[in-house]
Amino acid sequence: MTVVINMRDGFDKRKIKIAAKFIREGKLVAFPTETVYGLGADALNEEAVRRIFEAKGRPADNPLIVHIADFDQLYELARDIPREAKILAEYFWPGPLTIVLPKKSNVPKVTTGGLDTVAIRMPAHEIALGLIRTSRRPIAAPSANISGKPSPTLAEHVVDDFYGRIECIIDGGEVKIGVESTVLDLTTKPPTLLRPGGLPLEEIEKVIGKVKIHPVVKGKAVDVAKAPGMKYKHYAPNAQVIVIEGSRERVKEKIKELLNEYKRGGVKVGVMATGDFYEADAYINLGNSEEEIAKNLFRALRDLDKSGVDVILAEGIEEKGLGLAVMNRLRKAAGYRIIKA
Ligand code: TXA
Ligand code: MG
Repeated sequence: MTVVINMRDGFDKRKIKIAAKFIREGKLVAFPTETVYGLGADALNEEAVRRIFEAKGRPADNPLIVHIADFDQLYELARDIPREAKILAEYFWPGPLTIVLPKKSNVPKVTTGGLDTVAIRMPAHEIALGLIRTSRRPIAAPSANISGKPSPTLAEHVVDDFYGRIECIIDGGEVKIGVESTVLDLTTKPPTLLRPGGLPLEEIEKVIGKVKIHPVVKGKAVDVAKAPGMKYKHYAPNAQVIVIEGSRERVKEKIKELLNEYKRGGVKVGVMATGDFYEADAYINLGNSEEEIAKNLFRALRDLDKSGVDVILAEGIEEKGLGLAVMNRLRKAAGYRIIKA
């Protein structure tokens, strides 16, 4: 049975206690964060963490992020904490930044996918922080989607994927950011960006200087031991996604051209674009700013898929600010099927 707790109208101490009790008992609780919904369990309880992998259908070597609510919790989970960690935490926590550090021995290898490092973040969401504090546990939480599906930005998405299969879902309404946190490896010098996300790279570099960018961030996924999450298929709906990249004008022309070709061939086409309307079988306007586009992206992929189209044509955007995270997700969803306009 799944208990759905409605907290759309804000934080409720009495209700959070119900969810916190589940966490302490080793059960699974999906909860909202500012980035996407997470599927949480006690990070230090091996059995509970194993159930996360099982529920998601997630490969055991893809490590989880451990969520904390107070900076000092970092010392219980990680060792050899560099100066950059403190500076970054001061600037960006709570917020959409995850840092990778050497782990302490009390963090089970199940949680870290067998690695000697642990990924940690402090989410900027009252419900997430309340759950961590009330349960008095660090909470391991991947995005609350079945492995390979788009991440959930609404509780409805979590219900679609997990209702009846986990103990509790907290509905906190729509998330604020819509793409997952930025993952930064602090065990290298300079630090390495492993996943672009809700905190733009430019912001990080303003504070700690130049950061290395892992090649998988922009290109095709490769088999890398350092960032196991990158080698798996991601965010892929059932429809075939194709990303059209290039200058805005040319991209728009190309989408129209492809749309006509597909129509003539009897293929049902969905379009997700920024601004202009298209005469497609399904059309979603992602918005104009990078922030709007990031927020609408995963929901658009889920909704277009539900509309039953065969192909989704997606307009590429510039890789600045949140645009880097958006393009990383889009290309993955497309299985790297990219058309240059
Ligand atoms: O915004 C987010 O980060 C959301 C919310 C719920 O906090 N969580 C999330 O978790 O996106 P997940 O599991 O979907 O993505 C975690 C990413 C994966 O790419 C994983 O490989 C990477 O972080 N990761 C976790 N631990 C790592 C480690 N020790 N070293 C390198 N990468 C790690
Ligand atoms: Mg995920």
